This record gives sequence, C-alpha cells and structure tokens, in this order.
Amino acid sequence: MEKHIQSQIASTETPIIEFKDQNFKGEFTTIYNQRGYCVIQFKGNGSLKTAEENIWLLQHFLGTPVMVKNNDGSFLTRITTDPEAYPDNVFRPVSDNGLQSPHCDGAYEKNPPSNIVMNVYQRAETGGESLIMPGTDLIEKCGDGLLTSLLSKSFYTVARGENRMQTRPVLTIGEDLIQICWADHEYMQPNNLIVPSEHQKAFREFQEIVLDEANQTKLMLQEDQALVVNNHSTLHGRSPFKGDRELSRLWTESKPGLNNGILDRTLVERLKALK
Ligand SMILES: [Fe+2]
Repeated sequence: MEKHIQSQIASTETPIIEFKDQNFKGEFTTIYNQRGYCVIQFKGNGSLKTAEENIWLLQHFLGTPVMVKNNDGSFLTRITTDPEAYPDNVFRPVSDNGLQSPHCDGAYEKNPPSNIVMNVYQRAETGGESLIMPGTDLIEKCGDGLLTSLLSKSFYTVARGENRMQTRPVLTIGEDLIQICWADHEYMQPNNLIVPSEHQKAFREFQEIVLDEANQTKLMLQEDQALVVNNHSTLHGRSPFKGDRELSRLWTESKPGLNNGILDRTLVERLKALK
C-alpha cells in the first residue's frame, strides 16, 4: 500500500488527500510522514465556521491541541491582517501583506508545536501562496561549518516580546531524528539581540538559503483545503498578497505514529559527527 501511494506522487506535486472517514488515517499518515506536509480537501462552503469545524476534525489525527497565548482561551487562532486582532503590541509578520519568510511556528516557545493546520477561508485578491521547505532539502544545501553552527546550543534566532525566546538550537539531534527550529529576526524587539555575534555569519548564510525561492515549493490553498505541516521537519511561509486574507490555524502536540521531526538515521549520524 505504501509503495503504491509513493509511486503516485511526483516530488514536485502537492500531496492532496480527500478527507473521508474510511481509510483517511492510513493514507494521511503515510503521505504526511513521507513528505512532512500535505493538503487535506474537505467538503464545505468556504466559511470561517466550516474552516474551524474541519480543522477541529483533524485533531483526532494530529494530536492534542495546544493552547496559544493571547488567544482568548481558544485553541483556534485567527490569522488576519486586521490590526485590532492582536492587542499585545508585538509586531507579527502575519499582520501585514508582505512576505512571511519560511519559519517554524512557536520557535520562541519552550515547546514549539509538532503539527500545524491552516485553513484559508478568505483568499487574497492576488498572491498569498503558501511556501514550503522540507528540512532535509535545507540541510542538504548547508556546508559542514554552517551545520555545526546550526547545531550549537547558543545559536538562538528569535524572540517574541519580553521573556519569550528560542531556547533550542536550530538543529537538534535525537536518537533517530532531527528537529529543526528556525524563525528569523521578524519578531525581535529593538535592542534585543538574540543571535550571538559568533553566529551572525551563519545566521545570514542560512537565511539566504531559506529565502532562495529555488528552494521553496509554492502552493495556493483553495477553498476548504487545509495545509498540514510537520513543524519539526518542514518550514512554512507565505508570499506577499493584495487584499484581505484570513485563515484559521491550530497547533497540536506530537502523536504516536506521526514523525516528530526528520526521521533519517544516516543524516543523524552525519550531524552527530559534526557536533
Ligand atoms: Fe507560521
């Protein structure tokens, strides 16, 4: 079964899975683990209500929902250009129409979420494509010196307001997997230097790789489609857009059966040798 599914997907194609009760879990798990992201096609009417109901259905397949701070006690976050949506005075790149460079969500949290689901219920007039970058592709582009910096315990890249900053290296090696945690300066407060000077060159080098469009897969979410991203293995971002664009988002913890990072023993051994 696994081979059959794999052979159907060319590496450049967006993996789209139709949501249905029967056999959905097996198909989803195989493709999601293989690719680090996928798109779920729901039946719905493109409304916020439908988007939220659909996302909520996915928690059964993705793990326990994570409560997000500054979110009125809700698990679902409305991502919007509405300037009044975030009352904490912290600038967010999601709040404007510009490029949101590929990143991991919650990189400034002690425990960033394992999985992210995003359902756009209002598409932009133009632009607003999702940008996807598998961590394995990114690591492949890095030289050994850069990888050594990314593995360094003191290489932190992002903070969100006061008292919330990244506490893990960009690359963490587990027994048989690698976790990636990257977001660049966008959330930093003035004078709050996170990247130590000895790592700033490496920071810029890695940022350049992340910003290179040749390394990004672009996809345009259609109505009633949800993008699911493995936040420990795959970066996501968004291209600039015109008009209003709104989406509903859910973070979840890890779940047994779903990869919790880049599962690659050969790569693990290679990175271990660089530490
Ligand atoms: Fe994000």
